[in-house]
Amino acid sequence: MSNSTVVDFDLDRYLRASRRLDLTHIDWDAVPSHGLEDGDVMCLHYMMDIETHTVIYLRDLLATRAAGDPHITAFLSCWVYEELWHGEAFSDFLRAYGIEVPAEHKLPDGRTPLPTRPSRTARLREQLGVGHKLSLIPTMLGSMLFRDFIALHMTWGAINELSTLTAYHALIRRTEHPVLHQMLRRVIQDERRHFAFYRAQARARLSRAPRRTRRLVRRILESFWTPVGAGVKSEREVDALVLYLFGYDERGREMVREMDGTVSEIPGLGGLSLLEGYLDEALERDRGA
Ligand SMILES: [Fe+2]
Ligand SMILES: [Fe+2]
Repeated sequence: MSNSTVVDFDLDRYLRASRRLDLTHIDWDAVPSHGLEDGDVMCLHYMMDIETHTVIYLRDLLATRAAGDPHITAFLSCWVYEELWHGEAFSDFLRAYGIEVPAEHKLPDGRTPLPTRPSRTARLREQLGVGHKLSLIPTMLGSMLFRDFIALHMTWGAINELSTLTAYHALIRRTEHPVLHQMLRRVIQDERRHFAFYRAQARARLSRAPRRTRRLVRRILESFWTPVGAGVKSEREVDALVLYLFGYDERGREMVREMDGTVSEIPGLGGLSLLEGYLDEALERDRGA
C-alpha cells in the first residue's frame, strides 16, 4: 500500500497493546450455578470451533497477495494470537459448565493442558480435509488474477468481525447466564479492534480503487458471501445459529439491519443487504423444513 493512502487505524498502538484475552476476573466457580439453554450451548460450540479455526483461515490469507503487505502481516500475527485465546475462553467456559465432548486428556493433577480439546479440533480439521485437499487453489488463483484481491479480503474480514461481535452481543441478549455475559463483553472488546482494522483497510483500499474494482468486490460479495463459519459448519448449523440469535424477534432483525447499514458505509457497498438476505433465506428454509 502506498504511503499516500490514509488508513484510519492506529496499527502501532494495536500491535503494542495486543495481548491475550484477560479473564482474570471471571468467576469460573460460579459457571455451573447458572443455567444455559440448549441454544446457548449450541452457540458456544459453534463460536469455540470457529475461533479455533482462525489459524486455518490465516493460512488461506497468507497464500494471497496479502502476504506481501507488512502492515497486514503484522496485524494478522497479533490477530491470530488473540483469536486463539477466544477459542480457549469458550472451551474453558463449556468445560467449567461441565461439557467436554469428546472427553479430552488431563494432566495427573486434573488440569487441562493447552491447547484444550485437541481431539475435537483434529477431528474437525480431518473432516474438512485441512492439509490434504486443494482448497487453496481457488484463493491463490483469485489472488493472481485480481490485483485488488486484498481489498476484497479486507472487506470480507470487516464483515466477519462485525458479524462476530454482533453475534456475541446477540448471545448476551439471549442468555441469562451472568458469567457468560462477563466473558462475552471481554471478547467483544477485542473483536471491536479487529473490525476497526479491517474496516479501515477496506475503506482506504476501496476508496482509491477504480470503480470497476468496487463493482467487482460488490458482485463477488453478492454471489459468494456466507456467514462466518459456513464451510466449517453445515448450512443447517449456520441457519440454527442465525435463527437462534437473530430470528426470534424484531430486535434481532434490527441488529441484522444495523450490520447491513454499517457495511453499506464501505465505498462501493451502499445499499447491500447481505446479512438480512441471509436471515430471510434461513427463515425460508426453516419454514420449508
Ligand atoms: Fe474472536
Ligand atoms: Fe476477531
